Amino acid sequence: MSPRASARPHNHSPGDPVLAAAVRAGELAPSLHGTRPWRLGREGDRITVGTDPDRRLEIADPDAREQVISCGAALFTVIVTLRAGGRRPVVRELPDPDRPGLLAEVTAAGAAEPSPNDRMLHESIGLRRTHRGPFPFDVDDVRTVRTLASAAAAEGAVLRPLGDERLVRSLAGLVAAAEFLHRCERDTGEELDRWVRGPGRPGSDGVRAEDFPPPERVADALFPERDFGRGRVRGMLDAHGDVAGTAALLSTAGDARGDHLAAGRALQRVLLTAAAGGVASAFHTQPLEEPHLRAFIGERLCEGGHPQMILRLGREADARSHPLFASAADPE
Ligand SMILES: Cc1cc2nc3c(=O)[nH]c(=O)nc-3n(C[C@H](O)[C@H](O)[C@H](O)COP(=O)(O)O)c2cc1C
Repeated sequence: MSPRASARPHNHSPGDPVLAAAVRAGELAPSLHGTRPWRLGREGDRITVGTDPDRRLEIADPDAREQVISCGAALFTVIVTLRAGGRRPVVRELPDPDRPGLLAEVTAAGAAEPSPNDRMLHESIGLRRTHRGPFPFDVDDVRTVRTLASAAAAEGAVLRPLGDERLVRSLAGLVAAAEFLHRCERDTGEELDRWVRGPGRPGSDGVRAEDFPPPERVADALFPERDFGRGRVRGMLDAHGDVAGTAALLSTAGDARGDHLAAGRALQRVLLTAAAGGVASAFHTQPLEEPHLRAFIGERLCEGGHPQMILRLGREADARSHPLFASAADPE
């Protein structure tokens, strides 16, 4: 997106509240297991986005792919907040080859009038939350699907909804295979325990017990959820309905660090656009943590692209679209 630059002079003080708000908003991005595995720093008019090595999941994410996707989502949130606050962000991704942990530098280079789409995305930051369990309603209208695909394309990724029931079942089968293998083989007990927050435990790290389905429902769904509770912390999801939602794959043409960062930006743009349109998103990334399954999904379901996220998109019963949602298909 290229915001319309205005002729207003650039005179932001070191204590610029818009930059402070952008860092705070970045912390609200989605992340693998709620690890928030980024480091968001501020130096004058510049915000840095880097990885936090202590928050990488060694078992689930040994190559840090999902960590960088999470950081990309935080980066997009920072960018949107700066734009909505009337700043013109200039982004340098992977600016220093000697510091691979430094993913991006965002400089508030001047002033620019926010577009309606910037405002809409910004309003969605606090509304977006990961959905788990079934959806009351599918997303089956062409306009919504096209709008979300455009959001992914604007950040250099492809969002591919699976329309054919047989393909959906194939993908669900791969999710189930990975999930049940992980339950048997992975010594993820410690990793999950660190990032699951029991009922009433305060803080913003990790997955809250209220957010995952109770144990008796974990194994039943077409797309099985990650077993965050492991039968011990009881989830409290209030389940209703039995619609799996619209399954979709987010992929990129390449598979380097910069592509994972782009996937994260695209993910967050899709999620914020979806939230504005009354669409919630669920994730099932388990098979993408198995190299052979990931390659298979890329070859058979992504036309040779590299799958980065598996989503289900659906509507809540009382959801309403943002009035600007219809125009979000053309974000530039
Ligand atoms: C790269 C990535 C992978 C994720 N994979 C899953 C997943 O497989 N299952 C799931 O329930 N949530 C998944 N999530 C969602 C996170 O658990 C969620 O973002 C986090 O708990 C914070 O909650 P929030 O999104 O509601 O703010 C994933 C998020 C990211 C960024």
